[in-house]
Amino acid sequence: MARISLRQLLDHAAEHGYGVPAFNINNMEQIVAIMEAARAADAPVILQASRGARAYAGDTMLRKMVEAAEEMYPEIPICLHQDHGNSVATCLSAIQAGFSSVMMDGSLEADAKTPASYDYNLDITGKVTEMAHAVGVSVEGELGCLGSLETGEGDKEDGHGFEGKLSKAQLLTDPEQAVDLVARTKVDALAIAMGTSHGAYKFSRKPDGDILAMQVVRAINERLPNLHLVMHGSSSVPQELQDIFNRFGGEMPQTFGVPVEEIQRGIEHGVRKVNIDTDCRLAMAGALRKVASERHDEFDPRKFLKPAIAAMRALCKARYEQFGTAGQASKIKPIPLAEMARQYAAGALDPKVAGVTQAAE
Ligand code: G3H
Ligand code: 13P
Ligand code: ZN
Repeated sequence: MARISLRQLLDHAAEHGYGVPAFNINNMEQIVAIMEAARAADAPVILQASRGARAYAGDTMLRKMVEAAEEMYPEIPICLHQDHGNSVATCLSAIQAGFSSVMMDGSLEADAKTPASYDYNLDITGKVTEMAHAVGVSVEGELGCLGSLETGEGDKEDGHGFEGKLSKAQLLTDPEQAVDLVARTKVDALAIAMGTSHGAYKFSRKPDGDILAMQVVRAINERLPNLHLVMHGSSSVPQELQDIFNRFGGEMPQTFGVPVEEIQRGIEHGVRKVNIDTDCRLAMAGALRKVASERHDEFDPRKFLKPAIAAMRALCKARYEQFGTAGQASKIKPIPLAEMARQYAAGALDPKVAGVTQAAE
């Protein structure tokens, strides 16, 4: 099946009221786990690769693995998405490598650490959108910095995220600014800041409205009902996966992620893409630890990796079912990127922003 744009997939998700998990990929095993789960659930797929993933696997290897997935799972529409692009060059090289969607994360400067000004975000996101849409590739923007409302700090774990502390205002996306950014940059989807952060250590307790600001989702959705919202840092860090990891020698202090039922509430209010990496890592790492601790004589990597794939597959399938993605793949007929480009050029895919008649330059 042809590669699908994020825009087409999220338009379908909005029309049918579901969300799509976007799982991070770095290697063959993760791709296999996601694709097997998608086949079992009849779910469309977003495979996303961070800059770190592209450096780890190499663009050629990633491209060939995704092509293999397309050949092996022809019934499943696949969107290949650049996660947290930090510059025009990163997004351009992703497009050259065959990605059908890019994220331009203009909430941070190119170092992925310094909070950017709004003008910087507008400028760089607009540039990427103009370039990507010309070839039918979708764009996700970000407004507001991901970070903890408990501590005011950004992500440390994966080297992405601001340093130091930010105010609550910087950690929550402003709905009015979202309207302006969407109208002026014409992004297809917007990642919002609402108290989630990357990695395992999101919350020190089960989150309530003080530290997981679901009201921001509702406020933006009220103002921009046609906009596809993206929740980053949306691993749930399930207790059972923490327990397996710790039972077999891991040392993960008690932590709390984003409860699945909160994500489901988000999906009711315009969340269409849900980014999940940590849960997949944890599922695999727990299974690897289990083999390593139970089978001291084992040295065949396949004996470690098979259960790791199975653990990640179960996680992915559960999310496809919980987000309503299951059963949707067979309803989608991919629109070629050239046709998407034609529609962008004709203005047919411009954001519908009430009260803003024309995109400002
Ligand atoms: O952006 C966060 C994702 O979990 C990707 O992490 O940069 O370590 O690949 P990474
Ligand atoms: P998690 O760390 O919660 O899985 O978030 C991943 C993410 O947002 C990737 O962009
Ligand atoms: Zn993210």
